[in-house]
Amino acid sequence: MENPAYNIISNPGKPEGTKTGNNSGKKLFLESYGCQMNFSDSEIVASILSDAGFTATGNVHESDVALLNTCSIRDHAEQRVRHRLDEFQSVKKRKPHLVIGILGCMAERLKTKLLEEEKIVDIIAGPDSYRQLPLLLKQVESGRKAINTILSAEETYADITPVRINGNGVTAFISIMRGCDNMCSFCVVPFTRGRERSRNPETIVEEAKSLFDTGYREVTLLGQNVDSYLWHPLLGTKKEIIKEKANADAEDKADTVGFPDLLGLVATINPLLRVRFSTSYPKDISDEVINVMMKHENICRHIHLPVQSGSDDVLMRMNRGYTRDWYLDRVKKIRSVIPGCAISTDIITGFCGETEDDQIMTLSLMDEVRFDFAYMFKYSERPGTPAAKKYKDDVPDEIKTKRLQEVIALQQKLSLESNRRAVGKIHKVLVEGKSKRSDKHLFGRNTQNAVVVFPEGTCKPGDYVNVIADGCTAATLTGKVIG
Ligand code: SAH
Ligand code: F3S
Repeated sequence: MENPAYNIISNPGKPEGTKTGNNSGKKLFLESYGCQMNFSDSEIVASILSDAGFTATGNVHESDVALLNTCSIRDHAEQRVRHRLDEFQSVKKRKPHLVIGILGCMAERLKTKLLEEEKIVDIIAGPDSYRQLPLLLKQVESGRKAINTILSAEETYADITPVRINGNGVTAFISIMRGCDNMCSFCVVPFTRGRERSRNPETIVEEAKSLFDTGYREVTLLGQNVDSYLWHPLLGTKKEIIKEKANADAEDKADTVGFPDLLGLVATINPLLRVRFSTSYPKDISDEVINVMMKHENICRHIHLPVQSGSDDVLMRMNRGYTRDWYLDRVKKIRSVIPGCAISTDIITGFCGETEDDQIMTLSLMDEVRFDFAYMFKYSERPGTPAAKKYKDDVPDEIKTKRLQEVIALQQKLSLESNRRAVGKIHKVLVEGKSKRSDKHLFGRNTQNAVVVFPEGTCKPGDYVNVIADGCTAATLTGKVIG
């Protein structure tokens, strides 16, 4: 039923509908929070609104429309956006016609509630509604607030060429799929981003090719769980593909593109194009993916493989679908096929029911794997998730913090050891730009994704250089260009 206070505009079946109204001269301010996927989505939004006549500005004070592409993964992420909205109050006082919109996961999670709680917000647009933004903006022009939080089973924005915002011209993200079907019990993403769906591989390869042709030298293929990427030209959703695959003939099967196939396709565009991907899921990362990496030198030697916990009890309650031994076995396989492959991870401390023994298991797993890098978080209960419904958020905050600090301290040591192992070796580095600390230094990454800083010399962003590493911190390698 339509809420009379807002206009709910349904998603069209396919493209169109973007060239709406005359917005030329109007300025768009767009700020992104959260994961790489959100930053990638913002490039889609920028493309849609640039087609609708908007020009971008980095200054909210001179904008006509200010959009925040938001994250709901932890409460802290949502609080940051609330504070930003507080700051926008004064901007709106001076500029009453400024249109303020909330995009992304907070929009999807809170829907009309957000309009009620944050009076200055005019637009609420969920992750599958961006084609409708020009229409939603028109609606606001006519004096009504506008909301679209309809999730789609098909939308992949496959035909939209992202506008690269604040890019370095060397590295870019490409979304290969949307949504997530993996119901990890702590996670809000399946609710805010909807069902998993894969993007047509031809459009992915085209996008990567055109990036290469315009000077880009690295693409990161993005998905919540890239290993479950699956595409068939005639069949839509993954579920249909799996159902049909059982009775399909050989020709049909050959038409199905899985993640290892996609990786191979992108890697063969040009050996000078580096390929990365994120995120791999321990239950789903297959031997084929590992073998394809080995076949192509330009697929980077780095796998981000979130473990979350080293305890089987906790993993079970998290509904991750694998055990500690399974995870360790995947790591062993990766290291045996691709020697020197970096492995990074995500860890959550203080999940429901986590004991001191569980924490010890997490620390011992970290030690055993020797992660090169990790993102580490305190558990933050998200309303409506299976964990919020089923388990008590019973680890006191100070214990969550204490455990987080232990995990961070251990990772600091492991990261330093990882970088120390790289000192004295020669690294092929793709130059990305000036170092933050000094404009006489450049920085880039080696294939393992370690940041390498070195004196500028004659090289420029987009070049590959050989750097001999002569020093390091836990975060960075330093060195000199040779040859
Ligand atoms: N598959 C995704 C995961 C997205 S969330 C990907 O592409 O990376 C990123 C990380 O946030 C998760 O791996 C998890 O470690 C953390 N996270 C998710 N929900 C959380 C919660 N409720 N509290 C704390 N950390 C959380
Ligand atoms: Fe979240 Fe698990 Fe998917 S962490 S994004 S439900 S893989």
